[in-house]
Amino acid sequence: MNTVSSYLRVFGFLTLAYIILELTIDSGTQWAIEKYPALWIVLSLVLLVLVAVEICLAALQKILFQTLKADAKERYLEAKRLRKENKYAWLKETYAKLTKSKPIEKESEIILDHNYDGIKELDNSLPPWWVYSFYATILFAFIYMVRFHVVNDYTQDEEYLAEVAAAQKAIEEYKRTAKDLVDFNTVELLTEASDLKAGEGIFGANCVACHMKDGGGGIGPNLTDKYWILGGGIKNVFKTISEGGRDGKGMIAWKQNLKPAQIAQVASYVLSLQGSTPANPKKAEGDLWTDPNAPQEEAPKTSIDSTAIQTPAVDSTSVVSTLKK
Ligand code: HEC
Repeated sequence: MNTVSSYLRVFGFLTLAYIILELTIDSGTQWAIEKYPALWIVLSLVLLVLVAVEICLAALQKILFQTLKADAKERYLEAKRLRKENKYAWLKETYAKLTKSKPIEKESEIILDHNYDGIKELDNSLPPWWVYSFYATILFAFIYMVRFHVVNDYTQDEEYLAEVAAAQKAIEEYKRTAKDLVDFNTVELLTEASDLKAGEGIFGANCVACHMKDGGGGIGPNLTDKYWILGGGIKNVFKTISEGGRDGKGMIAWKQNLKPAQIAQVASYVLSLQGSTPANPKKAEGDLWTDPNAPQEEAPKTSIDSTAIQTPAVDSTSVVSTLKK
């Protein structure tokens, strides 16, 4: 264990062992090493074995070397020296090719004959790595121009919309798997039968004592009418259930007992009771709720009677004064 390469080998095999462990052990979303701390012991053992093997190999090499005759020893060392010298030859050559710089001894060949207060200038050729990068940018620009300004492949707007659509899809996908991520800002009315059924179950288990089985109300208000004390619509209802009603009224914050996904289900179930007729309804409390986001289709359409239109008296001075402001 006295050469750099032996350390590198140990490190490399250890990494390999770790990767194999991670790949072969099913640990869900966690790292295997996190889930099963015993793997640290396995890895330590692997490390121990690797170090032992390296030490044995080095010892073996030394013993073999000692058994060689004097001239063989020399040849061996010579070969070793050569190997070491040529080790990074390829790298060095490539580097020299890419920079094309003159070694200091040869700078006299490219020195320019002017002299600025003792500062002299070398006429180095442009380094090939730079020149070829420059050509690459020209090629890129050409392809870019043809693709987006001649063939009009797609515009930035289209690219943006496609990316937003893809992101939206990813969000939908994520939400489907992470239903508990909802809060009253993001919750949407659930309409699937399975969700409503689950909501009904939660309502039956927790809410009927005060709101009655049919939502007609008792200690708590009637949930089937269009009047809401704390606001209607899925977002308000979710918030009421999650955060509770006004202090002292008896409606607790259910977020301690129900998961966000369950609150969304029971809120959707409550809203599905809208318009039903409970057996013994409590009288409406609160305000008539209209969804501010609903399409405004029932805006009162007054019949337009042209004869009835009165031209409003325009006060020219007031118009001028508003313009001046
Ligand atoms: C201990 C009795 C009680 C229980 C149990 C109860 N509530 Fe309530 N609930 C009330 C009271 C009282 C109010 C009125 C709160 C207020 O006036 O601030 C209310 C209000 C509400 C409102 C708002 C009504 C409005 O007009 O704004 C909703 C929605 C609601 N409850 C749903 C539920 C759901 C869902 C459950 C079961 C998870 C539940 N409640 C359990 C007593 C209860």
